Amino acid sequence: MEANRFPEFDIGEVKTPSFVIDEGLLEENLKVLWNVKQLSGAKILLALKAYSAFSTFPLIRRYLDGVCASSLHEARLGHEEFGKEVVVAAPAYTEHDIKELLKYSTSIIFNSFNQFKKYKKTVLGHGIECGIRINPEYSEAPVPLYNPCAPNSRLGVTIKNFEEDSLEGISGLHFHALCEKGADALERVLKAAEEKFGKYFSRMKWINFGGGHHITKEGYDIKLLCRLIKSFKNKYGVNVYLEPGEAVALDAGFLVASVVDIVHNGMDIAILDTSAETHMPDVLSMPYTPEIIGAKIASNRTKEDKKKFPYVYRLGGLTCLAGDVIGDYAFPEKLRIGSKIVFTDMAIYSMVKATTFNGVNLPSIALYRPKIGKIKIVRKFGYEDFKNRLS
Ligand SMILES: Cc1ncc(COP(=O)(O)O)c(C=O)c1O
Repeated sequence: MEANRFPEFDIGEVKTPSFVIDEGLLEENLKVLWNVKQLSGAKILLALKAYSAFSTFPLIRRYLDGVCASSLHEARLGHEEFGKEVVVAAPAYTEHDIKELLKYSTSIIFNSFNQFKKYKKTVLGHGIECGIRINPEYSEAPVPLYNPCAPNSRLGVTIKNFEEDSLEGISGLHFHALCEKGADALERVLKAAEEKFGKYFSRMKWINFGGGHHITKEGYDIKLLCRLIKSFKNKYGVNVYLEPGEAVALDAGFLVASVVDIVHNGMDIAILDTSAETHMPDVLSMPYTPEIIGAKIASNRTKEDKKKFPYVYRLGGLTCLAGDVIGDYAFPEKLRIGSKIVFTDMAIYSMVKATTFNGVNLPSIALYRPKIGKIKIVRKFGYEDFKNRLS
């Protein structure tokens, strides 16, 4: 896959390592999502687990209906920084979680009838809506790590365990079964969900279709998505929620790094001031090879590319982990110490997952505002951020 959106900012200006969020690109995504809301009548929430860069929430808030939080801290962030609907869905809640969540949530989705029954009175007593996560037992997630409907999954109530006599106080049902998928996959998930749980849908106020909808990806069939939502809403008389994370900030952020050293062991290896393990962990866990502006993934080169991009380097990270390797890339020119490397699509599942393993410092976070034409650093990290996680 080629990087299809390029940063407008001057890379020379960026101190590395930094995540740079391009608010112009982010807004392009938000306009697509706004259009889906207008055409389908669905509500769209930002899944904070994918993207929680709250300095951009004033922009996102103009387009989306709220956030979906998967923990107490995300719910609090959503309440304090986003301020619209805060829909919480986690695999389980402690009593402490629920007590605190009462301050921040507009609805709480339970992963079992056990938990719903335990907290129902308290939650409903605070005017907060309750939902149940269902498991349609059908998914097209690409890998088991990201398949919530795999056999023996702990996520969602299966039809076998569904307690139809315990639905009083439940306003909605929620399922999440997709990962980077098109509307055609949603159509198949909906079919499975309807076959199993369809008879309960019209008793609900809302049905939440979860995340994993690649709505802002080129080629996504928005017409089909809107058709599916509209006919679902009409058929069951419910509101529909989508809670994408990835689609909100897809291709809207970059990780800018520099070459710190170049070593040789059977090939040229550039060591960067970033790290797959600490700054872009999905590269290792998914796994995948991110795109770099102005370079090719070495194994993807055509004959023609091999002439244009002859210099191959393995790009490795700063940690001691042997496998802290981002990938093998081909460049048009030799890399030098200080050369800048720009990884694309680094706004999602990166800042939220970054760690300080090995004491590696976190990248700064910067915003690029096209209207001003300038990059503004909104967060810098240092020794205290490493130390404060430990004791
Ligand atoms: C329950 C739930 N909702 C929403 C999302 C967001 O998914 P995505 O970022 O793929 O759109 C996830 C991702 O894991 C999820 O588990």
